[in-house]
Amino acid sequence: MDQSDVSGDIAHILHTEAELGGRLDEMAAQIDADYAGKDLLLVGVLKGAVMVMADLSRRLHHRIEMDWMAVSSYGSGTKSSGVVRILKDLDSDLSGRNVLIAEDIIDSGLTLSWLVQNLRSRGPETVEIATMLRKPEAAKVDVDVKYVGFDIPNEFVVGYGLDYAEKYRNLPFIGTLAPHVYS
Ligand code: IMP
Ligand code: MG
Repeated sequence: MDQSDVSGDIAHILHTEAELGGRLDEMAAQIDADYAGKDLLLVGVLKGAVMVMADLSRRLHHRIEMDWMAVSSYGSGTKSSGVVRILKDLDSDLSGRNVLIAEDIIDSGLTLSWLVQNLRSRGPETVEIATMLRKPEAAKVDVDVKYVGFDIPNEFVVGYGLDYAEKYRNLPFIGTLAPHVYS
């Protein structure tokens, strides 16, 4: 899927497929170096992190394991509340593991700060975060993020795993939506 398939719906492209890929190359090299000689469990947060997980993990030389969680953030519409419910838990026992959460975006930070605390309570060696995008101006809580793809303005974005009403996840780039899509 590309921009031509959703004609007129995309107002502005923030990061192209090539830019995302280039940044993921750098992030993967850093992760390989940081975890050299250590065990590594990548934890993806469904559904948004599917693309990051697939593209980041394939760039790693490390022999990783993957696991998935699904959480839902109570809140209205596009705003998150910080009250989180686990819809699907991990299959793995985290005790003694080095856990790296793969995320699509950190907006308010509420979901991730809850998730980090939750995973830390399970006895892992380390818990760190790798996110493709971060909106610094939207932060409501400080989340210590080890790997960030790009900081973006405080605008609603879609593509590369991110949806609006469950659509646009399969766009290969990150963009903003045209106003008519919301009405
Ligand atoms: P939080 O506000 O950091 O808790 O973000 C919670 C979740 O909201 C993210 O993991 C995304 O799934 C979703 N989200 C936040 N900002 C955007 C956006 O700009 N587009 C699409 N989804 C978003
Ligand atoms: Mg998400």
